[in-house]
Amino acid sequence: MKLSITTLIFFSCTLALLCQSEQAFPQVYLDPKATVEDRVNDLLSQMNLDEKIGQMVQTERSFSNVNMAITQYFLGSILSGGGSVPGNTPQSWITMYNSMQTAALATRLKIPIIYGIDAVHGNNNVYGATIFPHNIGMGCTRDSVLVTKCASATAMEVRAVGLNWTFSPCIADVRDIRWGRSYEGFGETPELQKMMAFAAVKGYQGDSLGTSDHILACAKHFVGDGGTQNGINQGNTVVTEADMRRIHLPGYIRAIQAGVGSVMISFNSWNGVYCHGNKYLITDVLKNELEFKGFTVSDWEGIKYLSGDFKTAINIAVNAGIDMYMEPSRPLDFINYLKQLVNEGSVPQSRIDDAVKRILAVKFRLNLFEKPYATNALVDSLGAKSHRTLARQAVRESLVLLKNSGGMLPLSKSSGTILVAGQKAKDIGSQCGGWTITWQGGTGAITKGTTIFDAIQNVRGSGNVIYSANGVSTGKPDLAVVVVGETPYAEGGGDNPNPQLSSGDLSVIANVQKLKIPYVVLLISGRPIILNNVITDANAFVACWLPGTEASGISDVLFGDYDFKGKLSHTWPISISQEPINWGDIPYQPLFEYGFGLTIKETGVPIMKSPGLSVYPNPVKDFLSFLSDNEGVAEFYNLIGELKIRENVQAQSKINVSKLSTGIYILKFTSNSGQIQITKFVKD
Ligand code: BGC
Ligand code: BGC
Repeated sequence: MKLSITTLIFFSCTLALLCQSEQAFPQVYLDPKATVEDRVNDLLSQMNLDEKIGQMVQTERSFSNVNMAITQYFLGSILSGGGSVPGNTPQSWITMYNSMQTAALATRLKIPIIYGIDAVHGNNNVYGATIFPHNIGMGCTRDSVLVTKCASATAMEVRAVGLNWTFSPCIADVRDIRWGRSYEGFGETPELQKMMAFAAVKGYQGDSLGTSDHILACAKHFVGDGGTQNGINQGNTVVTEADMRRIHLPGYIRAIQAGVGSVMISFNSWNGVYCHGNKYLITDVLKNELEFKGFTVSDWEGIKYLSGDFKTAINIAVNAGIDMYMEPSRPLDFINYLKQLVNEGSVPQSRIDDAVKRILAVKFRLNLFEKPYATNALVDSLGAKSHRTLARQAVRESLVLLKNSGGMLPLSKSSGTILVAGQKAKDIGSQCGGWTITWQGGTGAITKGTTIFDAIQNVRGSGNVIYSANGVSTGKPDLAVVVVGETPYAEGGGDNPNPQLSSGDLSVIANVQKLKIPYVVLLISGRPIILNNVITDANAFVACWLPGTEASGISDVLFGDYDFKGKLSHTWPISISQEPINWGDIPYQPLFEYGFGLTIKETGVPIMKSPGLSVYPNPVKDFLSFLSDNEGVAEFYNLIGELKIRENVQAQSKINVSKLSTGIYILKFTSNSGQIQITKFVKD
């Protein structure tokens, strides 16, 4: 008898259906109606040591013969490191993920893998994804509802390419802006972390973790990553336990309350002890005291620092309480050694069981056993219009107006010619910063989006906008928008003992100054940088952070369709010698306080928020070389607005400030012709 293919398929399907209906779920762990606890216990009871240890291992997608390793060693998870992509279309991701899942389901117990990626400001490794502002800007919005929405859109874009776990949110409390990861945290205060940690986890995971458009979140890096001495990446955080709990821990408490399913351990040390080996922090505090029920994951080869001998390092880390191990190049050595350690009795079976139970519970909560494979269902959400609109709102709300003198802003939508100066005005890569397409990020047209220049041109039409990369202009502009800032970086590559503008950027500004036209500076940066007289000289100044792909959020406020709303998530130092400087410190005399941010509407009240505010770059001892062409009256106010000294000033004379005690002051100078100038300065 000759059977057609169709008949064959028909028979096999019927057979499969019959088998299924005969014995709906032969095993408790496969029954979606059973409780997660029962499913975990049932599955665990059937697993041998190899299968258990495999669940504890995560390797990188580029590991050689990765699919074979998944099947042979029962690997529980795969990740993409920054910029590690299988081609870069939704389909190439889905195909890769599904082939890995097939490899996982080819094992005896068919436990699906979970796939992690750093979707830290949108699904940023993927070409064409919506890129949201980095967290430092999200912190400035003070808008937790918005943070939830952006995380939720990101979750959908991660699902769009088939994946189910993001290594985000980074809830570092960033205490020193010299740290190259400053932009990954929401700001410098525990209040901000608490607010945004909860909001972000809810956005990524949804309420229950099980829906097909949400993903697993990972609060990182536990703990104290933002508090290292001199802001050194992976450095040593020297704080008392009381301060560790007051400053760095609160974000985790809120993340746990939001149900976060995973926590990444940090590269840094606490008072000289590596977090990756710190049983007190991981087991006693995180798991027992804070009742964290998800699983912990090590950072990228994070345990290697514990000891030169890998086996010893594994022993320390597993006993300290780390459940899953991010081992891009040594997953098989890890497996070997851990097995030896269990057989030798150095690692108790109970510790292995605890780790595996936690990992499996999350996989069950994610409905991975029911839906292991990715589909094309959400492909259209990648870079979707609605997500870009949301990102544009986030950009708008994250911008902080630091200076606006003489009514420079808003700009007119119709009259005058605008010079847009600086190469960063036409640079999606710089707008996005690190962790975009590649690990360190890159300059230029790295992905789809709207540049600042495009955004301005969209408002003005093409006729009256001129672009000049170096600020030299032969045309006759009436005013300029100067875009300067940092070049993309990530992690250690971004550590900088004195972040400030490059000589190239300073020469763009100098060239614009030669045109003798008013100008606004837009700063693209991953942190406050030392400004010296850049802000004093400019007519207006906006901190844009790393806004991502939707620069129309910038033109929205520049041209007055919306007012500025952002408030600093960081203290802005006058000079780098002030670092570390944070809200609540005594003394506290920064250039701009944490929480500072002008609006266009707030003309002159209170004095601190005056749009005419300029800032005197260096601390002053005796004479403030504030020279006016006119005679007038100088009034010195302290920060709460009390008048301290009032005196008459001759034209072209320096003002004696020796009578003032040390502190921050506002000088209000009213010339005899009625012009007012307001300058903030520090009395040394
Ligand atoms: C970073 C983590 C990141 C991981 C995976 C590490 O170097 O510290 O934040 O999630 O790599 O890319
Ligand atoms: C990876 C990153 C990872 C880093 C750690 C890079 O090669 O792409 O994801 O965080 O290494 O050093």
